[in-house]
Formats: sequence, structure tokens, C-alpha cells
Amino acid sequence: MKQYDFDTPIDRHGTDCFKWDAMPAMYHRDDLTPMWVADMDFRSPDFVMEAIRRRCDHEVLGYTMPSDGYWQAVTSWLAKHYDIHTTRESLHFIPGIVAGISYALLCLTQPGDKVLVTTPVYPPFLNLPRESGRELVCCQLKIADNRFVIDFDDFERRAEGCKVFIMSNPHNPAGTVWGKETLQRIADICIRKGIIVISDEIHADLTLPPHRHVSYSTVSEAAARHSITFMAPSKTFNIAGLGSSVCYISDEDLRRRFYGWLDALGVAGGNIFAFTAAEAAFAHGEEWLQQMLAYLQANVQTLDNFLKTRLPEVKAVLPEASYLAWLDFSAYGIPHKKLADRFINEANVVMNDGTTFGGKAYEGCFRLNLGCPRSQLLDALDRIAHTIETR
Ligand SMILES: Cc1ncc(COP(=O)(O)O)c(C=O)c1O
Repeated sequence: MKQYDFDTPIDRHGTDCFKWDAMPAMYHRDDLTPMWVADMDFRSPDFVMEAIRRRCDHEVLGYTMPSDGYWQAVTSWLAKHYDIHTTRESLHFIPGIVAGISYALLCLTQPGDKVLVTTPVYPPFLNLPRESGRELVCCQLKIADNRFVIDFDDFERRAEGCKVFIMSNPHNPAGTVWGKETLQRIADICIRKGIIVISDEIHADLTLPPHRHVSYSTVSEAAARHSITFMAPSKTFNIAGLGSSVCYISDEDLRRRFYGWLDALGVAGGNIFAFTAAEAAFAHGEEWLQQMLAYLQANVQTLDNFLKTRLPEVKAVLPEASYLAWLDFSAYGIPHKKLADRFINEANVVMNDGTTFGGKAYEGCFRLNLGCPRSQLLDALDRIAHTIETR
């Protein structure tokens, strides 16, 4: 069996990658370690690269369409991993999930309509409703036993009058895996109140054992009927730069409305490499994925051990899926701005500022991306700890 190497650092400077190459313009420095943007500093899998190279060898890159092989690979993956049994009509290619969510919002809601999210959450969930004139309604997640949980009394109250709930399943930050019981309670409330659930399941494939991802659409037939599910190989196989995602809707009316709208606007066509890469990834990706998840899991353990010994006051919500830990430094009593400044200017590490995930309530919090070689993780953590220890 082939052993994949996730340990050897890869120099990504100068490849126009957002994670590394956007920092100099933002911070006027070129010596920062990026532990922010949610992609991994790992090589994309060899079988994906080979498929892209083979397609390139043909040397004609005209208009394209998804092949039967692409749909077969997507369909098998969803059925095998998540028990989602699709028909060709129930699926639609979508270039990116953020774009998919904004198309869904524009298609299914009107300015002034209420859109529900649970915070802290991936910032586009906050920006998309706000910037399109919808009313953003935030239900704050609680922390219990070091994981995010939903306060259902608050959720139910805030859900009143909402048209759409945008859910990150698993949750970003921290990859919280919403189990079947939680999803069922969400479904009960949203169905009763006539709310469409947009379930963003981009991190599903990165669920770390023993956790198990449950797709919202599989909780019940009623849940499937009033939801839109987004999935993608982009995070899973580190091919986010190719813009390759997929949408699943079981309800015919909802599908006709949303897919009809996408087709009329012409915003959801794919590119040659998006199809080629996704097909190769889903068709040949099992072994690579298992090895990569084991590596991520060891990184989570490394972070946990490090925090216990060097940063014991940090309250962490560690990933149950994916690679985005949520770290609360408030117990150290350093004002948020000062903390953010020290991480950049003393530790030379860029993390995502917690306040961008839902405002002032998240001062003191930062999101750390641990999808990188362990040496990079340990080096960044050491510098973060040093700047706290020397306050
Ligand atoms: C929950 C979630 N949805 C969507 C995205 C981005 O998806 P895309 O690049 O397909 O727009 C991310 C990236 O971090 C994410 O964490």
C-alpha cells in the first residue's frame, strides 16, 4: 500500500495561493506563518494530479460538461459515505459553496427576509445575508464539555419568522459534528416553522473517527424535502482552487425553482479541471483520505497535548471534523487587540480573528488551522505560547 507523505513541508510561496501569498499585502511582511485560510499545506493527491495532466495532454480546452463518469463518482461517494441516494436530476454542479449559498439566498428569499445562523460561524454566513439586504438572525452556540452545542430554547425563539437557516454541518469553526439527535431537533423546529435549511456539508468527508457525519438530508424524508445540501471534494482532497462542488435537492419543486434559476442565470457551469479532478478524487480517493485523516487526528492530539502543557488557560474547542480549532485565550486577560497584534507581530503567526465569526462576543478567540505538516504546527504553537508567556 502506498504511504503518502504529509510531513515534508512544501514551499507554496509565489503560487498565487491565498493562504500564503495574500499575507504580504495585508501585513506588509513576508515572514509570517499562515494558520488561517481553510486549505491544507499538503500536496493534492497524485491520482488527481495525474488525471489533470492526462486531460491537459489533449491540448484542446473548449466548452465542457460533466461526464457520466463524473456523475457516477459523485453518486457512489454520496451513497457509500452518507447513505444519500441521489438521482441525476436531484444533483447540480456548483462552482463553489459560498456562491451556491448566495445563489440560494437570492433565489429563495427577498430583501428584508430573516436568515438564521448559529455563531460563531464561517464569516460568509454572516456577510451574505447582510450584504444582500436580508435580516441576519444569530443564535449563539454554547460550549458544554469542550464542544459547541445548540441552545434549543434560544434557537426556537430566534427561528420564528425566519425563511432560511444556513447550517454548517459539520460546524466551522471546530468541526463540531452535529449528531442525528441534534439534526432531528433542528428539523422539527425548521419544518414546523416552514424554514428551508441550507446544509453546507463541505467538511463532511473530513470527519475524524470515532465521529460520524450525518447528512441533514438523511434525518427524515421531511428534512430532505425542505433542504438544500452542498458537498464538495474541495476541502477533502485539497483542491479548493479548482472550484468544484455539488448540490443535492430531493424535493422536485424546490429543485425546479433553484436549479431552473441557476441554469437561467448561467452561473453554475463547471470548468474542465473541476470535473476531471472531482471524478478522480471520488473514484480513487479512499486510501489517501484515510491516511490524511489519521495525520489530521494526530495533529489534533498534538495541539491538545501542547495546550495542556504550555497554554493551560486556553479554552479549546478541538476539531471533530476538519482542521479548524477554536481557541479562547481570554483567561490570560490580554485585551483582544493586543492579543491579535502580538500573534502577528511577535509570534509571526496568522490565525483568523474570532470576532469575524460573530462579533464582540468572540473577543479573545482565534481560529487555528492545523492542516499542515506537524513541524509547522509545533513551530507556530511554540511562538504563540512564547508571546503569551512573555506578556
Ligand atoms: C463551512 C464552509 N463553507 C464553504 C467554504 C468555502 O467553500 P467554497 O470555496 O466552495 O466557496 C468553507 C471554506 O472554508 C467553509 O468552511
